[in-house]
Amino acid sequence: MVPAGGPVNVSDYERLAEECLEPGPYGYFAGGAWDEVTLRDNVRAFERWQLRPRVLVDLTGAALDTTVLGTPVSMPILLGPAAFQRLAHPDGELATARAAAAAGTVMCLSTFATLSAADVAAAAPDGRRWFQLYVFKDRGVTRSLVDQAADAGYEAIVVTVDAPFLGRRERDIRNAFTVPDDIPVPSWEAGGRGEEATVFEMFELIDEGLDWRDVEELASLSDLPLVVKGILTDDDARLAADNGAAAVVVSNHGGRQLDGVPAALDALPEVVEAVESRVEVLVDGGVRRGTDVVKALALGARAVLVARPFVWGLAVDGEAGVRRVLELLREETLLALVLAGCTTPAGVTRAHVQRAPR
Ligand SMILES: Cc1cc2nc3c(=O)[nH]c(=O)nc-3n(C[C@H](O)[C@H](O)[C@H](O)COP(=O)(O)O)c2cc1C
Repeated sequence: MVPAGGPVNVSDYERLAEECLEPGPYGYFAGGAWDEVTLRDNVRAFERWQLRPRVLVDLTGAALDTTVLGTPVSMPILLGPAAFQRLAHPDGELATARAAAAAGTVMCLSTFATLSAADVAAAAPDGRRWFQLYVFKDRGVTRSLVDQAADAGYEAIVVTVDAPFLGRRERDIRNAFTVPDDIPVPSWEAGGRGEEATVFEMFELIDEGLDWRDVEELASLSDLPLVVKGILTDDDARLAADNGAAAVVVSNHGGRQLDGVPAALDALPEVVEAVESRVEVLVDGGVRRGTDVVKALALGARAVLVARPFVWGLAVDGEAGVRRVLELLREETLLALVLAGCTTPAGVTRAHVQRAPR
């Protein structure tokens, strides 16, 4: 039982997180780019779709487990990459890794994690993990990040392609937000820097010259499957499939990069159609409810990723907070699934959603 007055959904966790975080880190976690139009639209997009429930379906034995890139997961909800998690809680990525393992799902570690890939793996040896890669100008650093992840048992490389430059994040500019030097960022140090840094300075290490040929090369850098994160159009989805990706993440980086682009959910159908099942399609951005997860499945996603929801849990109560947020999303998703008349994630089809009337 949740204590009376305690958080009962992701929004409650966000409110509590705002109370317990300093304005700088809160602004970094919560914020988006420019006027934050896309940040808001990611959430609102889910209201533009309605569920079309089927009734009198035998729901006995309904369950959420599925696979993503062959990895079994207990639910179609993964933990997306979020940088600097020790700014949310001293245990940072260790807590997230343990909570993801306990929930039986994949955690994707950010290149800009505040702990090394090996340390995070050691915190939850039974967990399943992917590594999110920013490609550094110094390809030696890029290669060593991939090698470290592969050595530590990470099972996919998720290359983020929507951030060749940092989006204009005005909350961070106003707050003069920096990552303090007592919270080291191993990849930043590997890139030759060591002092307190702004996120903008960190992104100066990232290669803005990256193109599709590099993606093909990255796919061959290790035996791990390559996931391309940050796709919003059918043309780029086809190019990802043509250039060695095993999956794409339809994403606008949580509204943190280019503002004024489509909500991730709205971009999902064209990507699903374009790839014609050649690659798995994941989506992230604005998922706050189990009903959102079911809508994403209906529009063709194999699974969703969440970032802010678990960061709020982490800020409020460390590992226990992340666990609780994941359990809330799991309970809500299972309930939404069965009330829509489905017994498995694969059973949710395009016929289970329609555009909401304007
Ligand atoms: C605080 C924060 C840090 C993030 N850091 C990264 C990152 O290091 N790499 C990356 O590919 N995406 C990063 N993202 C984007 C998320 O992986 C994801 O695309 C997006 O936030 C999903 O939307 P949601 O926060 O509404 O769930 C970050 C997002 C947030 C909120």
